[in-house]
Amino acid sequence: MKTWLGSSWAVCALAIVLGIFISMSQSAGQATKGGAASAVERGKYLVGITGCHDCHSPKKDAAGHVDETRPLSGRPATTPAPSTAAGEIHTALDLTAWTGPWGTTYASNLTPDTTTGLPARRYSEASFVAMFRTGKKPNGVGILPPMPYEMYANMTDDDLKAIWAYLQTIKPVRNQVPANVPAPVATAAPTGKK
Ligand code: HEC
Repeated sequence: MKTWLGSSWAVCALAIVLGIFISMSQSAGQATKGGAASAVERGKYLVGITGCHDCHSPKKDAAGHVDETRPLSGRPATTPAPSTAAGEIHTALDLTAWTGPWGTTYASNLTPDTTTGLPARRYSEASFVAMFRTGKKPNGVGILPPMPYEMYANMTDDDLKAIWAYLQTIKPVRNQVPANVPAPVATAAPTGKK
């Protein structure tokens, strides 16, 4: 019995050591894999779990499922600006257009379309990361709510660069999002402005 117990402990110990070895070699593999391909994969993963689609993608049905033919292309022309009421925040059914104390905002086109997407608004990897760090667009204009850039500023530079890398690989969609209509007087907003 003693021998049996002794050898099963030995087997357990071996399994633990092997497990540690395997997980160490896996993380070493992840660390060294690096490169553009894995940055794009990570960016896709991050975009998938951080809610970008909620506001930036047109929806194909009333249940809010993303229209896969034009993801992240911003507020579609068919989405009207929501109504307004003092002291309330309103949003369109597809969450791409908003009104609140800050005015009316339309979710931007994040695709690589050169005339209406991020390149048209002078974004590069550096200015994309800077926007999340400073709340300022490349043209110096402050980001308005409900874009939760302050929350995303908690991401590392590598994560934000991965999101940028992924956004370069998605389908370019030509969709001119209208200009925001900021409220005449700046008022306290729940997200965004400091
Ligand atoms: C709660 C809604 C919401 C979520 C979630 C959201 N955004 Fe936004 N985003 C907006 C709105 C609305 C604007 C337009 C604000 C403005 O122009 O001032 C915007 C603007 C932007 C801009 C600025 C584009 C420009 O025209 O200068 C970028 C870049 C951006 N969002 C990226 C992202 C990314 C990446 C994610 C996910 C990590 C994300 N957003 C999540 C609502 C959202």
